Amino acid sequence: MKIAPSILSSDFSRLKDEIQAVESAGADWLHVDVMDGHYVPNITIGPVVVESIRKVTSLPLDVHLMITDPDKYAPEFIKAGADWVSIHPETCKEPKASLKKIRELGAKASLAVNPDVPLNQVERYFSDIDMILMMTVFPGFAGQAFIEDVLSKVKAARQLIDQRKLSLLIEADGGIKADNIGSVVGAGAEVIVSGSGIFKTSDYADTIRAMRKAAQKLER
Ligand code: DX5
Ligand code: ZN
Repeated sequence: MKIAPSILSSDFSRLKDEIQAVESAGADWLHVDVMDGHYVPNITIGPVVVESIRKVTSLPLDVHLMITDPDKYAPEFIKAGADWVSIHPETCKEPKASLKKIRELGAKASLAVNPDVPLNQVERYFSDIDMILMMTVFPGFAGQAFIEDVLSKVKAARQLIDQRKLSLLIEADGGIKADNIGSVVGAGAEVIVSGSGIFKTSDYADTIRAMRKAAQKLER
């Protein structure tokens, strides 16, 4: 299991310290939530900030694009240092082409699936992606409540991936904390995003340790 703290819940006035704190606390990746005020109501982080983040950490940067024009901006985020780029299919004219472009530019491609999007709507992209991002909240805000119903979709995706022996990761994002991480990992997710579940706690290392302990028995 990989833990990817979402910096959206960090203290932006101390961004470098916050990033380095989760890195030394045992984070595996860093999740960067990009919102444009169109696809979702919030506006958050642009490529300039990603470029600065790249300079202060060696963690893989997992950039989650919640924007209406990923085709225009994904290349900028990759240039700025994104290792993984997630896009929402409803924001692309032709998701297959968008995903292909991300790979061509040297990043790993991921497709983000909203809680109300069924698996059969995204299965056709499985050969075009390195990861599927299962949203366990609706995109737009940090600190929302985890949507339990998504677990069955995570399980179904796990089964499909195992049956077809596909090499793509399952990431889960939204409302995940030490007390519910077990159910998500048990359902088959391998990359766990957590924003407020980490940054709103007082000791990041303790929290990440507790998350690993809770997930340990359930990892595949
Ligand atoms: C939601 C974002 C999530 C969110 C995670 O739109 O994609 O990554 O910031 O934060 P928590 O863990 O607080 O739900
Ligand atoms: Zn996210």
